[in-house]
Amino acid sequence: MKKESTVLEDLNQALAAEVLAAFRYLYMSKIVSGISSLALSKLFAEIAEGEWEHAKLFMGRIIQLGGIPVSRPLEWEKRSFNPYAEPPRKGGAPRKGGDLKAMVRDALKFERSAVEFYQRLAQRTRDTDIITYQLVIDTLVDEKNEEHKLVALQES
Ligand SMILES: [Fe+2]
Ligand SMILES: [Fe+2]
Repeated sequence: MKKESTVLEDLNQALAAEVLAAFRYLYMSKIVSGISSLALSKLFAEIAEGEWEHAKLFMGRIIQLGGIPVSRPLEWEKRSFNPYAEPPRKGGAPRKGGDLKAMVRDALKFERSAVEFYQRLAQRTRDTDIITYQLVIDTLVDEKNEEHKLVALQES
């Protein structure tokens, strides 16, 4: 098996994490219910779309660089830069304010670990791979925006 360069490995870690994040946000957008959950459901659905876009971009870049994008669901969990946590489902749909707040906190944890990962990847590619660098910076800006929207919701 061809050994992957560090950047390709990082891009695959990003792809795996983004696919899982897209799935998880979609899932959470569908299971939240009850009073005050509409805004949260909409935001989770919107973020799911954003993460899916990131997955598309990273997959494209991996192929451009001659790498092989992760192709098995098992690998998504193994290679994601962030450990996968199952969406909450105990006791049915989260509907109480406390449950919803816990979901937002949990989403924020993911966004912050994404920001850290992309900051490191941006530093690593800044002087060696300007195209990947730009892609990572654009993603970083999206993740930061998602973080801000989640924080705003938390404070509302
Ligand atoms: Fe993302
Ligand atoms: Fe995100």
